[in-house]
Amino acid sequence: MKPSIISSSLLIIFLVFTATATISGYTFKAYITPNFSATYLQFIDDSGTFLISPNGTFKAAIFNPGSQQTSFYLCIIHAASRTITWSANRGRAISSSGQMNLTAKGITISDESGRNNPVWSTPPLRSQVDRLVLTDMGNLLLLDPSNVSLWESFRYPTDTIIIGQSLPVGSSLSSSSSDSDLSIGNYNLTITSSDAILQWLGQTYWKLSMDTKAYKNSLSMVEYMAVNRTGFYLFGSNGTVAVFLVGLPESNFRVATLDNSGHFVIKSFSSGTGWKQEFQGPDDGCGTPLVCGRVGLCNDDDTSSSSSSSSSSSSPVCSCPQNFHVGSGNSGGCVPSNGSYSFPYSCDVSNNDSYHNNNNQSNSASSIVSFLNLGNGLDYFNNIYTDPVMDSVDLSLCQDQCSKNCSCLGVFYKNSSGSCYVIENELGSILSSNDGANQDMFGFIKVSIGSTTTNDDTRDAEDGGGGFPVVATVLLPITGFALLMAFLFFLWRRSIKISKRKQDLELGKPNNNPHSSGDLDAFYIPGLPRRFDYDELKKATDDFKTLIGSGGFGTVYKGVLSDNAVVAVKKIVNIGVQGKKDFCTEIAVIGNIHHVNLVKLKGFCVQGRHRFLVYEYMNLGSLDRTLFGGGPPLEWQERYDVALGTARGLAYLHGGCEHKIIHCDIKPENILLHNHFQVKISDFGLSKLLSPEQSGLFTTMRGTRGYLAPEWLTNSAITEKTDVYSYGMVLLELISGRKNCYFKSRNHSIDEDSNSSSSSTSGLLYFPLLALEKHEEGNYMDLADPRLEGRVTNEEVEKLVRIALCCVHEEPALRPNMAAVVGMLEGGMALPQPKMESLNFLRFYGRRFTEASMIIEENNDNEGGRREVNNNSSSMTSGGSQAALVSYISSQTVSGPR
Ligand SMILES: *[C@@H]1O[C@H](CO)[C@@H](O)[C@H](O)[C@H]1NC(C)=O
Ligand SMILES: *[C@@H]1O[C@H](CO)[C@@H](O)[C@H](O)[C@H]1NC(C)=O
Ligand SMILES: *[C@@H]1O[C@H](CO)[C@@H](O)[C@H](O)[C@H]1NC(C)=O
Ligand SMILES: *[C@@H]1O[C@H](CO)[C@@H](O)[C@H](O)[C@H]1NC(C)=O
Ligand SMILES: *[C@@H]1O[C@H](CO)[C@@H](O)[C@H](O)[C@H]1NC(C)=O
Ligand SMILES: *[C@@H]1O[C@H](CO)[C@@H](O)[C@H](O)[C@H]1NC(C)=O
Ligand SMILES: *[C@@H]1O[C@H](CO)[C@@H](O)[C@H](O)[C@H]1NC(C)=O
Ligand SMILES: *[C@@H]1O[C@H](CO)[C@@H](O)[C@H](O)[C@H]1NC(C)=O
Ligand SMILES: *[C@@H]1O[C@H](CO)[C@@H](O)[C@H](O)[C@H]1NC(C)=O
Repeated sequence: MKPSIISSSLLIIFLVFTATATISGYTFKAYITPNFSATYLQFIDDSGTFLISPNGTFKAAIFNPGSQQTSFYLCIIHAASRTITWSANRGRAISSSGQMNLTAKGITISDESGRNNPVWSTPPLRSQVDRLVLTDMGNLLLLDPSNVSLWESFRYPTDTIIIGQSLPVGSSLSSSSSDSDLSIGNYNLTITSSDAILQWLGQTYWKLSMDTKAYKNSLSMVEYMAVNRTGFYLFGSNGTVAVFLVGLPESNFRVATLDNSGHFVIKSFSSGTGWKQEFQGPDDGCGTPLVCGRVGLCNDDDTSSSSSSSSSSSSPVCSCPQNFHVGSGNSGGCVPSNGSYSFPYSCDVSNNDSYHNNNNQSNSASSIVSFLNLGNGLDYFNNIYTDPVMDSVDLSLCQDQCSKNCSCLGVFYKNSSGSCYVIENELGSILSSNDGANQDMFGFIKVSIGSTTTNDDTRDAEDGGGGFPVVATVLLPITGFALLMAFLFFLWRRSIKISKRKQDLELGKPNNNPHSSGDLDAFYIPGLPRRFDYDELKKATDDFKTLIGSGGFGTVYKGVLSDNAVVAVKKIVNIGVQGKKDFCTEIAVIGNIHHVNLVKLKGFCVQGRHRFLVYEYMNLGSLDRTLFGGGPPLEWQERYDVALGTARGLAYLHGGCEHKIIHCDIKPENILLHNHFQVKISDFGLSKLLSPEQSGLFTTMRGTRGYLAPEWLTNSAITEKTDVYSYGMVLLELISGRKNCYFKSRNHSIDEDSNSSSSSTSGLLYFPLLALEKHEEGNYMDLADPRLEGRVTNEEVEKLVRIALCCVHEEPALRPNMAAVVGMLEGGMALPQPKMESLNFLRFYGRRFTEASMIIEENNDNEGGRREVNNNSSSMTSGGSQAALVSYISSQTVSGPR
């Protein structure tokens, strides 16, 4: 391949051996020598990591993507983004006890059952291996004793290339099957001497040369594809000429990857903001082959859009063409409406079948083909990139051509030119255009008329009739009776359906939208996570037996799915979006947000008036229980990790994904914990999705008192800085280990020497004010949770207090954004100095608060612990300062709907 890469990697090797990297207390060597073996279980505390690059940017691990427990791969992982940039045994996963061996002959990977029969190994090498190293660029190298590279992972790309790597002409990237199954999927990116081409099972659906974002710079032959810190290129002439180029913002870590939906994506990562997508091909919503499943009709013209949701504008909408309806399987897609039609089998099977069947007359012929008309104004992705097989022919000739060829599954026919296009190998989604450009393009799908369903298929064949005379006459006497029964059954089903609809109407379910009437059959939306049946959820939760939480949007139950996955099932009661379609559009957006610090949406249920969301289950519950509950106190490092994880998740919501999402309800109850105090934020995306131009349009207040920013009360715009405020409040609670408002108990250490205004009166204490006062004194230790008993230093507490105070600045513009908070916590960014002029409001609230607490104490008898000051949310809207005060000090949920 490119000599430049080898030399540059050699250069890096000189730096490699000087350093060792330390992560989470373990010391890793920067290289490994032969007669080494590793299993996942051996390194389980570090998620299988056995080798780390000198500065820690990359690690090599026996890894289980998606946290499933069955498929493990030898992976190179970019540590900060947890992205797999390369995997060895992608075709054959090993179990958690599978092993990687390094010997003088190279690397082998084997499963427990077959040690002598490796599932993967490096090719035969020129000489003996001296060491295995992982460079800071992410290249895994086998070196001989004189530091010459014998093998390197950069030469064997899987679905991704990174900076420093190149993809030579003639080679390909292949997508993975899914996020957790790295086996080779159906999409290919191939570099040719003039282009980069995306294909799905031999059908082309994108070419770089036809993408408007790429700039053609030279007529030279392409030699390889690469990304660097400032762009994406197809290079020619030994890398001296960029044949195609796409300029990109400067970034230290960038990947070009073919994802498992078939998109070729270039994105960059920074630890503050997370991923930023920079390029995508194909870029239009309907561009990938299976966006609407097989024969699904994809429409991304934004003509039918209601103003309801910003996200619907760019999302394609799927439906089925005429003569088809939504298939039942999980894969989506459409099947012929007439049950006696089916898609033909793939080439070889049907050949053999029809041969046997024709010999055997008793079996009904399954090879009679017909063409179902999809209508006009349609197109197929491959037509744009390939020439028609015939021009100036009749439609019947076009169809005949397809009937004869067993690999042909459908035709597209352009009336004006008589052009005939064929679909081969597999059927993808159909494109629909409303703009009239393709009015004379007709689509036809080949179907077999299977008469295997003999008791059902009874009607006289109206089209042609001569299809199967034998069958028809034999069955006719029985048919009369069967028809009658079928008709009665049909009437019965219909009456049930109608009465059910009436019920729905009586229950106030909006049914005026034709799309949301009936079930979801009329449409479906790509990107939707799995759809569950109500009965399935009822069974999984044992009839909603185990309540594990409740919040503004509804109640949460624990459940176990049929595949033993433990889930949290959230029953939605108060959601603003009522229509099924709008609901699903929002779910599709939420379902596509993936970040380690955000709870993953596994699926949903929309049935009748039921609305459920199914999330992965977090075994340690929510932060409020761990922090305020009676269990052992969280150690400081754990609190710090929680603070950092929450900040990362929020930073991602605010800037890392396509739609900016303001959480609006950050509080300990929505911060869930998993093994090793991994943080996952829940309930995101349920607040209104905001496009940049929309952020200011919040009208109804939502959120939780105690974490609500002042702007909720002053009619200012609600922005992501509103979340920053709530985050600051949570940070203060992490420091003290208590609610920000709590009752002082007489013998508590915090108030012994305190004579500040916040605690001079007995009873309630307003911690944010105490934090401000102690900050002014420079005495941070007083703020730390006394249960830590000194297992934290003044400096450590100071760091969090200062960040927290900056987050709760009254003026939103003075609060840092979440990406900056991540930077401060990670240490890459200087600690900020809180601005007193924007914190004085805490004194006002603190004073009013203690006064209020005394009034309440008179009214309410003391029952100890935290106290809800006001349960009546109507007082919130009165706008008086009393109401404002209440909003700061109570922790009642205000309202679910926007
Ligand atoms: C590794 O093991 C093989 C076979 O047991 C042995 O011949 C070789 O010397 C060992 N290599 C090292 C570097 O220990
Ligand atoms: C890998 O190494 C282990 C321990 O040295 C050995 O038992 C096993 O047979 C080796 N497996 C292979 C495939 O070489
Ligand atoms: C690690 O090394 C790579 C390559 O030299 C460099 O790009 C990167 O910035 C370094 N990362 C850190 C955290 O030092
Ligand atoms: C290989 O590189 C390492 C680290 O720079 C060095 O210590 C060693 O001497 C080199 N070996 C040879 C044969 O050049
Ligand atoms: C992808 O490309 C590789 C190499 O050209 C080829 O072996 C493989 O069959 C292709 N896969 C698909 C699904 O086209
Ligand atoms: C990336 O490659 C282009 C084309 O060779 C070059 O002009 C540019 O300087 C490179 N950028 C960096 C940061 O090396
Ligand atoms: C490309 O590089 C190779 C090896 O470095 C060299 O032999 C060849 O002449 C170069 N080709 C061109 C066109 O510069
Ligand atoms: C037909 O089936 C036989 C085995 O049943 C198989 O060997 C053969 O390849 C098939 N024919 C075609 C055309 O694939
Ligand atoms: C279904 O297809 C069969 C076979 O062509 C035809 O006889 C029948 O009338 C069709 N049924 C409907 C409801 O169109």
